[in-house]
Amino acid sequence: MISILQNNNQGTVLTSDDLIHPAGFKKLYIETYGCQMNVADTEIITGILTEKEYVLTKHAELADLILINTCSIRKNAEDKVFRRIQNLRKYKLVNKNLLIGVVGCMAEHSQSELMDTATVDIIAGPDNYIALPELIKVASNKVKAVSTELSTVETYDNIIPIHEENSISAFVPIMRGCNNFCSYCIVPYTRGRERSRDHNNIIEEVKNLTLKGFKEVTLIGQNVNSYNYSQSGNTYNFARLMENVAKINPALRIRFATSHPKDLSEDIVKVIADYKNVCKHIHLPFQSGSNRILDLMNRKYTREWYFDRINLIREMIPEVCISTDIIAGYSSETEEDHELTLDLMKTVRFDLAYMFFYSERKGTYAAKHYSDDISLAIKKRRLSEIIDLQNVHSLESNKNDINKTFEILIEGKAKKSAAQHKGRNSQNKMAVFPANENRIGEYINVRIIDCTSATLIGEIIN
Ligand code: 5AD
Ligand code: SF4
Repeated sequence: MISILQNNNQGTVLTSDDLIHPAGFKKLYIETYGCQMNVADTEIITGILTEKEYVLTKHAELADLILINTCSIRKNAEDKVFRRIQNLRKYKLVNKNLLIGVVGCMAEHSQSELMDTATVDIIAGPDNYIALPELIKVASNKVKAVSTELSTVETYDNIIPIHEENSISAFVPIMRGCNNFCSYCIVPYTRGRERSRDHNNIIEEVKNLTLKGFKEVTLIGQNVNSYNYSQSGNTYNFARLMENVAKINPALRIRFATSHPKDLSEDIVKVIADYKNVCKHIHLPFQSGSNRILDLMNRKYTREWYFDRINLIREMIPEVCISTDIIAGYSSETEEDHELTLDLMKTVRFDLAYMFFYSERKGTYAAKHYSDDISLAIKKRRLSEIIDLQNVHSLESNKNDINKTFEILIEGKAKKSAAQHKGRNSQNKMAVFPANENRIGEYINVRIIDCTSATLIGEIIN
């Protein structure tokens, strides 16, 4: 019995019902920070550890093993985990045999600090989860257990991930690592080189998910557009993989993230356009609107290329929603560069955006070669201008949906009212509507009657 609880101050907690723990099993508590890949990795870790020795608990204070699955993408993500580790120390005072492990990106990026943190018994990087049972044994003998070697081949293809209880939506990793080396980004150093998963294994995994009642899968990877796998003389790129996944079951929704603009081909856009069950949403981070900054970021495209991709997408998929990532205040960014970012936003008018100010990460090309020379005050001011503009665009995008009817996949109760359900349309917009008799996992038609910048408000159409 497994469920993922969203905990406001802490990460996502993958849990089980503590009342049904079989005797003799030890209890595992996992908190997950960061991206969708970490959520999927936590499901893999759970698959590895619950095979024999462990059952999940939602109570850290009951656990024999606490694992924190971590993110290094920005400094504040790491600071949060260090504070959490200090906070977990109290459980060791009560349970002398409690083991605490830090897994994921921080195991690579902040290994030396973690080595110096007495509370931490186990350190395992993203390619070392198979070794966890062995590391636990070592740590049980009061020896710090560390495994952080990156692999060029590990894809965890033989592990059956344990998904959230009663879930209708699953992340399916199709590749691991990244070869892009955007100059600001720590991911290629913490997750290693790009490798694609076996095409047939992905197809089998998705078929099994549909048999288990899942209604939606999100194919995930750092840059899914460069998926490439050769098998028995056949080569599968992302367009072919997605087409084959879409054909499994027309009632299964397919999503994917993240796309790199340099690799977004017409073939991929065509598959999205051609298959009704491939969701009409593309997350296409642009990062900066200035060609000079894009070059410094090593993004390998220009704003003109980005506009070209947006035009292609909108021409081929008129009903599409496009979301993006933006970084404010990169090294040497001038007011003119910043204005170009705002200008790009005004030209494209994104439906949604994730916006950050630049956070220097040691070990990256930028940390070695560029100066983090934009003051925090300026970074924050530019970021708030970006956020303000996006709020206008998000509201405008949602207002355009008023009076339209969408097919919504019901995900659960709305946060604010138990009498309301929430669910997303193909475009990935969240809608709330009266709960009625409908159940989670059903598709219903909802006509939009109102909205905020974040949510569509609708009524059910029979
Ligand atoms: N500072 C700020 N934002 C970053 N991102 C990646 N690295 C950094 C960094 N060092 C952002 C990018 C990326 C998203 C996942 O996180 O916008 O697309
Ligand atoms: Fe980081 Fe760039 Fe790879 Fe994305 S594509 S994970 S931003 S290096």
